[in-house]
Amino acid sequence: MSEPDRLVLDYGNMLAHRLGGRGVDPDRLDGLAGRFREIHGEVESRRASGELGFYGLLDPSDLVAQIQTFADGPGQAFENVVVLGIGGSALGALALLHALRGRDWNEGSAEDREHYPRLFVLDNVDPDTVAGLLGRIDVRRTLFNVVSKSGTTAETMSQFLVVRERLRQALDDPDGVRRHLLFTTDPESGVLRRIAADEGVVTLPVPPNVGGRFSVLSAVGLLPAAMVGIDAGALLEGARAMDERCRSDALHENPAALFAALQWLADREAGAPIHVMMPYSDRLHSVADWFRQLWAESLGKRTSRTGEDVYTGPTPVKALGATDQHSQVQLYMEGPFDKTVTFLAVARRSRDVRIPELYHEIEALGYLGGHTLGELLDAERRATAAALTERGRMNMTVMLPRLDESAVGELLMMLEIATVYAGALYDVDPLDQPGVELGKRLTYGLMGRPGVEPAELPEPDPHRVVR
Ligand code: PA5
Repeated sequence: MSEPDRLVLDYGNMLAHRLGGRGVDPDRLDGLAGRFREIHGEVESRRASGELGFYGLLDPSDLVAQIQTFADGPGQAFENVVVLGIGGSALGALALLHALRGRDWNEGSAEDREHYPRLFVLDNVDPDTVAGLLGRIDVRRTLFNVVSKSGTTAETMSQFLVVRERLRQALDDPDGVRRHLLFTTDPESGVLRRIAADEGVVTLPVPPNVGGRFSVLSAVGLLPAAMVGIDAGALLEGARAMDERCRSDALHENPAALFAALQWLADREAGAPIHVMMPYSDRLHSVADWFRQLWAESLGKRTSRTGEDVYTGPTPVKALGATDQHSQVQLYMEGPFDKTVTFLAVARRSRDVRIPELYHEIEALGYLGGHTLGELLDAERRATAAALTERGRMNMTVMLPRLDESAVGELLMMLEIATVYAGALYDVDPLDQPGVELGKRLTYGLMGRPGVEPAELPEPDPHRVVR
C-alpha cells in the first residue's frame, strides 16, 4: 500500500480490545460522537467570533509577504539571529528550527547553511547561557528579535536590557542600535510598542487574540523560521490542509478530535493522566517540547468554565526514541498503567545512512549490515509500539509523510486544534494561564517592581534543611 501524502493517525493500540481490556473502550469513543458534534459547533462559533485567534493566522494576509521581505532583505545582512523570548514566545521558533533545519544548524558552515544566518533562541535568564552566547557571537553582526506579546515578561525584558546595552557599547553609531532590534509584540499596546515608536525599531504583530502557546504560525514563529530559509507559506499551506480536515464534525474523520477524545478518555476512564509524546526523530524532539507547554498550560486548571474547583489536567511528558528506550521505556512498559504514549514518526526520510556489511561471522553484529539507520530507528519504534501493546499499554502513532514545512504545519495545527477540543472535554478554558500569575507577582515583589507589594517569602524551616 502506498503511503498517503498527509498526516496519518493510527490509534488502534489505544483501544481496550487490543490491550487485554485496559485501554479506551471503543463504545465510549463512539459514544462521544454526539458530544463532539456539540463541541465542534461551539468551537466553530468561537472561531467565527474571533475568540480563537490562532485559526485567523491561516487567513490570507500580507503578513507572510512582510516577513519574507524582511527576512530576504535587511535580515540577510546578519550572521546571527537571536530570539529573546520565553514559553510560547520561544518554543515555536525552536520547534520549527529543529524540525526543518536540524538541531545542529548553528554548527554548520555558512555554505552548509546556504548563507542563511545562525538562529539562537535564548529562552532563559541563566547568566551562564546568556553570557556564554553573548561572548561567542559578534553582536555587531546580530539581529535580536525580542518576542513578547505583553512586553512585561521579566525574563525577556531583562535579556533585552542586557542586549541593548551590549549593542550600545559595541556599535560606533548609537543610532545603529535600533537596526539590530526587531520587536514582535502586541500591535497596539505594551512597553515594547512604546519603545519601538520612540526609537524607530521595526516591529511585527502578535494578534491580541492569539496567546503565546498558539502563536507559532504568527510572526512569533514565522519570522525566525523565514530568517533561516524555512518556507513560511508552505507551513501555512500544511496547517490549512489540516484545518480543512478538522472542519468535519464527525469524530472519526477529524484527526484533532480523535487525538483529544482518546487522550481525554484515557485520562478520565482508563486511569492514564500522563501523556508521553515520543518522536522517533531527533528533529521532532522540540515539537514534543512545544506540545508539552501547549497541553500543560492549556489544560492544567483549577477551575472549570463555570467556576467550580476541579483541579484537572493531564501531565504531558516528552521522550525521544530510540534514546529513551534505554531510559524511560522500562517504566512505560512495566510501571503503573497511568500513561499513553504518542509516537511521532516520519514515513519518508530525506536522508539515510547505510550500515556497512562488516563482521559477518559475529552473530550479534552481522545482521545489521546492509540495513540503514533509518530502518533500524523505524524497526525500534514499531517494536516498542508492539511491545507496549502486548503489555496492555495505550499508544498511538502520528505518521508524517515527510519532514517538510507542509507536514510540520499539519502536525502543529492538529495539536493546536486538539488542545481546544480537549479544553471543552475537560471543561476548562484552554486560553488562560492564571496559575503562573502568583509566581510572577512574587518575583516582581522580590525584584522591587514599583506598584507591586514587596514580597516576603517564608523562611525555610531550619530543622528541615540538611547542610
Ligand atoms: O503561552 C503563553 O501564553 C505563555 O507561555 C507566554 O508565551 C509567556 O509567558 C511569554 O509571554 P510574553 O509573550 O507576553 O512575554
